Amino acid sequence: MLDINTLFVGKVAIHLETVDSTNTYLRELLTKSSPIEGTVVWADAQTAGRGQVGSRWEAAIKENLTASFLFLPKWLAARERFALSQSVALAIYDCLLAEGVAEGDLRIKWPNDIYVGGQKIAGVLIENELREAFLEQSIVGIGINVNQVEFGQQLYKATSIKKVLKKSSDITQLLGRLSAFLEYRYLQLKKSVVSIRENYMSRLYQYQIPALYQIRATSLVVLGTIEGVSEDGRLCLSYNNRQDYFDIKELHFL
Ligand code: BTN
Repeated sequence: MLDINTLFVGKVAIHLETVDSTNTYLRELLTKSSPIEGTVVWADAQTAGRGQVGSRWEAAIKENLTASFLFLPKWLAARERFALSQSVALAIYDCLLAEGVAEGDLRIKWPNDIYVGGQKIAGVLIENELREAFLEQSIVGIGINVNQVEFGQQLYKATSIKKVLKKSSDITQLLGRLSAFLEYRYLQLKKSVVSIRENYMSRLYQYQIPALYQIRATSLVVLGTIEGVSEDGRLCLSYNNRQDYFDIKELHFL
């Protein structure tokens, strides 16, 4: 049981010692049963943690938060589904702020990574199922680096709560707090997609700041400026006197 005061998020919490991926586990659970909305599956260790664009999510055993939440946003139009991703990023942002991370250092890196001082502290993998023009179910996988302080060379841009705050955090307690922020932002989304978009933009990493990007299709490195994010989640970048929209596979932040 998580120590939380929510309406539904985290009310049912399934804790596993080891699993391939909490997202995969929750998806399989959904084929055999009907877990209630807000159910969370979390694990001490994942043997095949999944990241965005087919990458792996590495997290040292018992040192990090790896969890997947079930949402049933049947009221959300499929074309607005990126707003759910924005709500989740905002909830993680809120949670890290409440943990004590300084607001000035905390940013949401498009599409939904969380950065502290230019280093990644959390990532999100959302797997949606649609039904006609609406969402049917959403598996929201969240990885937060909590007490891990050593990261491999490939993860040179990674940080953790412990590295930032110089103190360990209790993972179960953090999961409880995260559940409350997820619920808050989810209910905000239900009321106003526009306010979620506004809150997201005001916390966006490198928004309106010139920086280097690599366009994957051509390998071209450009000095570009993020001008916005479209409703379907594409990043609007201006560079070389033009403006283009990119999806996550098409652009690399340098
Ligand atoms: C990314 O930034 O690439 C997304 C990382 C998402 C990782 C989490 S950990 C819990 C859940 N289970 C997974 O296999 N992936 C997500």
